Amino acid sequence: MIKHNIVYNPVVDWRFDLAKAEGSLLWDKEGKQYIDFSSGWNTTNLGWNNPEVNKAVSDQAHKNVYAPMWTADEVQSKYAKKLTDAFPEELDVVCRATGGTEANEMALKIARAVTGRSQIVSFAHTYHGQSFGTLALGFVPAYVKQIAPLVPEFIQMDYPNAFAEQPEEKTLEKFLTELEKHLKTEKVAAVFTEPGLITGWGSMLQAPKGYLTAVRELTQKYGTLLVVDEVGTGFSRTGKLFGIEHEEVIPDIVTLAKGISNGAGAIGAVVTKGKMVEEYAGAFKPTSTFGWNPLACAAALKNLEIHQRDKVWEEADRKGKLVKAELEKQLSDDKNMQNLRGLGLEIAFDISSDNKEGEDNSELSTVIVDRCFEKGLHLADAGDCIQIMPPLTISEDQLKEGLETLISVIKSL
Ligand SMILES: Cc1ncc(COP(=O)(O)O)c(C=O)c1O
Repeated sequence: MIKHNIVYNPVVDWRFDLAKAEGSLLWDKEGKQYIDFSSGWNTTNLGWNNPEVNKAVSDQAHKNVYAPMWTADEVQSKYAKKLTDAFPEELDVVCRATGGTEANEMALKIARAVTGRSQIVSFAHTYHGQSFGTLALGFVPAYVKQIAPLVPEFIQMDYPNAFAEQPEEKTLEKFLTELEKHLKTEKVAAVFTEPGLITGWGSMLQAPKGYLTAVRELTQKYGTLLVVDEVGTGFSRTGKLFGIEHEEVIPDIVTLAKGISNGAGAIGAVVTKGKMVEEYAGAFKPTSTFGWNPLACAAALKNLEIHQRDKVWEEADRKGKLVKAELEKQLSDDKNMQNLRGLGLEIAFDISSDNKEGEDNSELSTVIVDRCFEKGLHLADAGDCIQIMPPLTISEDQLKEGLETLISVIKSL
């Protein structure tokens, strides 16, 4: 594979020069076309270069492109209102960030400031960003050993994997017993988690039903905050506007990025409880010079309007069911499809029953991703599973064509 020399990234290999992107299609500079099953990792949920979102950015560029943190441009105020209105009443304030890493870092700081506690409970082999704090939440140890030490007082638990044991309630029960041991000490500021589904770079584990509700109950019991990272699950990806809606849980903090602007602006958000922050956070104030840059805000505002106007989550739910049904029909007897799972259009499966649990499947997954790519289907290389996360607006024809490619590659292994 050609190696790039522009931006060094040890985790994600460079694949191609992106010459054009539109809807669910990408083109390289040789003019070859690809159906996209990645959405740039859950970012272009409304399709690449969505014309309405892009127009909102260019219109804003003619008005104002910057508002420092002690001011508010009209587009920022409008977006703050629209975004917090999309959440339960208690979640009524928002902090301005430039992306997922910064939003999560702010959430960690808010949790410590509000509770006066230092420990954070999170999950091993998850991804929440690139700062020292967010890497400490769960990044793979091998990738971070050269920059150690990260941040002290982070406790990484094993994620309760719904497929580990049947019935899944048993897994949940064991997990909750372990979690309660940590929370009982009353030293834990926050439990930091995605809402029942890990989307960060390919772990794609799904928790047993009732996971988020149970974590909410336990955190409340011990005065620990619940922080839900919706950077990957937000903006209709899982068949609801936000992942917390699946169990109607109200966390203390929700973080957002990626699908927030459909890729048209660098923006992140921390939605939280104004009363809680005002009363307990003291002098701590998260700020960011470029957080909620008006251009990115214009994109985010239009993005949310479209999600709500078109009920995009319903599309995600319907198309996700279609994908699962087709994969079941074609590959249910194939050893290269195991543990088919996911919500909405965030779908994944493990690829070999020959591999023992915990064993690295990444080589086989890369073979599949490479072969699909040769045949015009772009998948994110998720490392240890195959992930299907196309733009939610993808046409059924393109969805079926992409699936046919994936299925034929798997059958040919
Ligand atoms: C679940 C999750 N949280 C946080 C992040 C970090 O977001 P960003 O890349 O915008 O800093 C990611 C990025 O992949 C993610 O998947």
